[in-house]
Amino acid sequence: MKILGIESSCDETAAAIVENGGCILSDVVNTQIDIHKLYGGVVPEIAARSHIEVINPVIDKALSDAKLDWQDIDGVAVTYAPGLIGSLLIGTLAARTIAVLKNKPLYAVHHVEAHVYANFLSEATPDLRAKYIALFPNAPKFPMLSLIISGGHTQLVLFRNHGDYELLGETQDDAIGEAFDKVAKIIGFPYPGGPSIAAAAQKGDPNRYNLPKARLSGKYDFSFSGLKTAVLRSVQKTVRVDINFPSTKLATKLTQQQRYDYAASFQKTAVATLIDKTSLAFSEYRPKSLVIAGGVAANQALRDELKRRLPIEVHCPPVNLCTDNAAMVASLGYFYALKNHTQDPFTLDVRPSLSMTKTRW
Ligand code: KG4
Ligand code: ZN
Repeated sequence: MKILGIESSCDETAAAIVENGGCILSDVVNTQIDIHKLYGGVVPEIAARSHIEVINPVIDKALSDAKLDWQDIDGVAVTYAPGLIGSLLIGTLAARTIAVLKNKPLYAVHHVEAHVYANFLSEATPDLRAKYIALFPNAPKFPMLSLIISGGHTQLVLFRNHGDYELLGETQDDAIGEAFDKVAKIIGFPYPGGPSIAAAAQKGDPNRYNLPKARLSGKYDFSFSGLKTAVLRSVQKTVRVDINFPSTKLATKLTQQQRYDYAASFQKTAVATLIDKTSLAFSEYRPKSLVIAGGVAANQALRDELKRRLPIEVHCPPVNLCTDNAAMVASLGYFYALKNHTQDPFTLDVRPSLSMTKTRW
């Protein structure tokens, strides 16, 4: 079964074709990072306009890269929630139109849930395709504990099976990726902050600045806004200015080495916070697999530390599949297709703030 996935929830316009939920036949991502970099973050109106410009060529390229025609496609999966409303509308309208005009079943998937399915994907090789009747043998097993860490989400979710999951805990304020992005601004590294902080941290001393881990009443909940403020206050102290000094100018007062040391110290504390909670959930639920997902799952320090601290093999998606893409959407769409969980293309609406709670589909 070949599913076309479409993703446009934030600042990536993406289309991909995936066979049987795991085998990538094509994977096209048009990122708007260079546009939004000028503003230090995503500008929703610009994002929506840019999606309109490229959505059709991106979908055409997904088909041509896979050397397929419309008649080869068995269904269309699209991200309908959550995300920026203007951005979600473009992908959803494209998918609805295709479903009607080409007479294909439509599957509406949750973006955050789709991130987890990056762990079920692998590149198509002729050998793999030949054997690809069922999922590949090293696919994560259920129950599967997933740490979902992106620019908009930070949550621990226990999947008992496909479509049967429970939210164990989530951030009470900033998402972890958001914290990386905000701290990068304070210490003067470009957007997106995750990759630039990770690169800077390699040249810094993670023990130079002592930053606090948040304590919360919810056993598996997270908080990152306090950590971001702790960086801000520490930088203000280091450069000897008070809280009235403009935060956009703070970085110019730091030395290059201090900026690297802040990057490393922040990353160490952020990673330790994520691992403490994951490790606690692992001990309580004893899952058969542990997966990480979302843009921040690309972070190498996190991957190394998880492997060091947890007594189980951790599934990490390939780095290019951690950030937003449509292959993960197509993979999840396949499991919807197996359960015949279709949507009416004439009525499907977007759900910009739908969270992933307890669900069984
Ligand atoms: O999943 P994603 O592409 O978009 C959302 O759904 O939010 O995640 C984007 C986030 C950004 O905040 C970015 O700074 C972060 O992922 N990110 C990273 C790394 N690569 C991307 N954070 C830490 N380390 C990285 N290597
Ligand atoms: Zn995402």
